[in-house]
Amino acid sequence: MAHDYIEDELSRGSVFKSEQFLSIDYVPENLPHRQAELRTLAQNFKTLITTPGRTSHKFIIEGPVGSGKTAVAKRFTEQLVQAADRRSIRLHNIHINCRINKTAYLVFLRALREFKPKFPRRGHSPEELLQMLVEILDEEDRYLLLILDELDYFIRQRGSDILYDLTRLTDDRLNARQRVSIIGIGRKIPLDETSLDSSTLSTLQRNILRFSKYDRNALYDILLNRVEMAFEENVVMEETIQVISDIASERGDARYAIELLWRSGKQADSTQAQNVVPDYARQAKADTHPELRKEVFSTLSQMHRILLLAIARQLKETRGAYVTMGEVEEMYRSSCEEYNEEPRAHTQIWEWVQDLTSHGIIDTKRSGSGQRGQTTLIGLSDVPAEMLEQFITSLLDSQEM
Ligand SMILES: Nc1ncnc2c1ncn2[C@@H]1O[C@H](COP(=O)(O)OP(=O)(O)OP(=O)(O)O)[C@@H](O)[C@H]1O
Ligand SMILES: [Mg+2]
Repeated sequence: MAHDYIEDELSRGSVFKSEQFLSIDYVPENLPHRQAELRTLAQNFKTLITTPGRTSHKFIIEGPVGSGKTAVAKRFTEQLVQAADRRSIRLHNIHINCRINKTAYLVFLRALREFKPKFPRRGHSPEELLQMLVEILDEEDRYLLLILDELDYFIRQRGSDILYDLTRLTDDRLNARQRVSIIGIGRKIPLDETSLDSSTLSTLQRNILRFSKYDRNALYDILLNRVEMAFEENVVMEETIQVISDIASERGDARYAIELLWRSGKQADSTQAQNVVPDYARQAKADTHPELRKEVFSTLSQMHRILLLAIARQLKETRGAYVTMGEVEEMYRSSCEEYNEEPRAHTQIWEWVQDLTSHGIIDTKRSGSGQRGQTTLIGLSDVPAEMLEQFITSLLDSQEM
């Protein structure tokens, strides 16, 4: 009989009990060290339930990477909708990732499809979509809490018109019921004084909830919770959790801390060790970088990825902090060949460079005059070029058929 690799793998011991509790999409029931923030949100939004339709809420959550913004918003809105349900108030929450739904049109379409799943993709303007959304909410006596996640990215790309549209929507309806409330989330939301009227601007500025980065004690508590959920008893050494909290506290990033924990466990499994020792955490630190966030890179198109690969390779080759646009384009053409893609023209590549800059993955600046003539210089925000190259290569390879 042929060797059964599946059964082999299944019968092998693992330090994990339920690995899925370490996945990036999982939001735990309890969010240690964010109780105060959850309470603040509850205090601000409770009128959606006590006096539905009276006011429209606009709120902003700001804070560094991995500080629990998305997790808190998800937990909070879930509880709010449940509380509304218990009181027969038809409140819906829609969580929109603005890195994926990149235009106002796509955001409104996504919201509309919550209620009309088969709504056609084309044939309407964004304003019409918004209007239809409100009509449906009115007709069916529903309320909507719209979470615009990664809004800072969206505004850097498109400006803050979307906030203007959404707030005008409520202001125009002074005597009607207020159907739509919003929570915008981002690291730092650029509130643009030219495209927002002063009352919207001041409302938003008054309603900013700022998350601080987690310190090592907070990270320790978050990790301890996950260890209990995801690992077999007593396999993760206390010292390992300490080491990970220390490493991740530099940025205060819970996502990075959890990734290090997961990788440490994987390391234990692959060496068939019984315990997750501190050294695996140190190894994990060397193998990954907090800026290599899967949720961000998975939203990039194939062409963006190839361009990024070219940038990483060129930077690796020249060993400088920056490379020129011309150098990148040359490397890009050879990378395209490797992946059987038709290389695109300069203007298109230029646009992708802008995209990658708004994502915060690369840095661009104009070269000083006299240096190499006026040209755009491209660098990486923080990740070592070689690590990025490896990461992108594995992304590109994993999707090849
Ligand atoms: N207080 C907490 N308790 C438990 N897990 C947490 C806590 N805060 C964050 N996490 C976990 O850490 C990871 C990152 O959190 P989250 O996605 O909310 O960060 P974020 O602030 O939205 O970051 P980004 O700016 O990158 O979007 C998630 O897996 C989340 O479940
Ligand atoms: Mg987030």
